[in-house]
Amino acid sequence: MSLGEHGGPGGGGNTGIFYHGGPLILGTTNVYYIWYGNWSGNSATSILQNFANNIGGSPYFNINTTYYDGSNAHVSNSVNYAGSKTDSYSRGSSIGDADVQAIVAYLRSQPAVEHATPIRNLSAIAAAFAVMNPSVISAQQAISQPVVAHQPGSAAYGEYLARAMGCGDCHGPNLAGQSGQEGLSGPNLTVIVPNWSEGDFMNVFNKGIGSSGNAISDEMPWKDYRQMFTDEQLKDLYSYLHGLAPVVSSQ
Ligand code: HEC
Repeated sequence: MSLGEHGGPGGGGNTGIFYHGGPLILGTTNVYYIWYGNWSGNSATSILQNFANNIGGSPYFNINTTYYDGSNAHVSNSVNYAGSKTDSYSRGSSIGDADVQAIVAYLRSQPAVEHATPIRNLSAIAAAFAVMNPSVISAQQAISQPVVAHQPGSAAYGEYLARAMGCGDCHGPNLAGQSGQEGLSGPNLTVIVPNWSEGDFMNVFNKGIGSSGNAISDEMPWKDYRQMFTDEQLKDLYSYLHGLAPVVSSQ
C-alpha cells in the first residue's frame, strides 16, 4: 500500500477503506437489532439473529480486522449478539435519521428484556399499515444535536407510549376517533380522557370498565395493554391524554 491512499495513519491495507480519524469499535463488537414495524411471523428475525450469533470468528468478518486506527489498533473478529427490541411504528412508516436516533435513544433507556409477546391485535394493524404504506425514508436536515429520549414520569413519555403502542391506529391519528375501517375503529379520546380522573382511566386497563360503568369490548386490546404497561406507564399515558385539547369533529 502507499501512504498516499490514506487520509492519515491507519486504514485498511489495500482494501480501499481509508481511516479518517474517527473512533473504532475495538474489542468485541456488540450487535443489537431494533425490529421496527411489524415483523411477526417473518423468518428474517431468526435468520438475522443466527447471522449475528455466528458472524464473529468467520472469514467474512475477519476482513474487518485489516482495518485499524492511528494507533494501529485493529478491529477484532469477535462479535456478540447482545439483544433486540421491537418498536411498533412509534414514528410511523416514513422515518428519517432524527427518528432513528430518537428510537435508539428511547430503546436504550428501556430495560434489556423485552416483552416476549407483542400485542396480537396490533400485529394485524401493523401488517395493514405495512401493506398500505411501505416504509419510505424521508429527506431531512442533518442532525446537529443529540436526541434525548423522554424520561418516564412525564406526559411526553406518555405521548411516546401512545405512539409506540399504536393507540392512533384505532383512535385516529390525533386520537380524535375514527370509524369505518373494520377492526380499526375507536372513540374520540380527546373528548373523553380530559374529563376523566386517573382512577377512571386505570379502570379501563385494570377492569375493562369505561367511565359510565360499561364493559369495554375486546376490540379495545386493554388486556394486552395491561400486560405490557406498568402502572407508572399507564399513568404517564393518562397524563398525556388528560392534557389533550378536545377535538370535536374528526372524521
Ligand atoms: C385495535 C383497536 C384499538 C387500539 C389499538 C386501541 N383502542 Fe382504545 N378502544 C378501542 C375501541 C373499539 C374502544 C371502544 C370499546 C367499547 O366502548 O366497548 C376503545 C376504548 C378506549 C377507551 C375507553 C373509552 C370510553 O369511553 O370508555 C380508552 C380510554 C381507550 N380506548 C384508550 C386507548 C389507548 C390509550 C390506546 C393505546 C395504548 C388504545 N385505546 C388503543 C379500540 C382500540
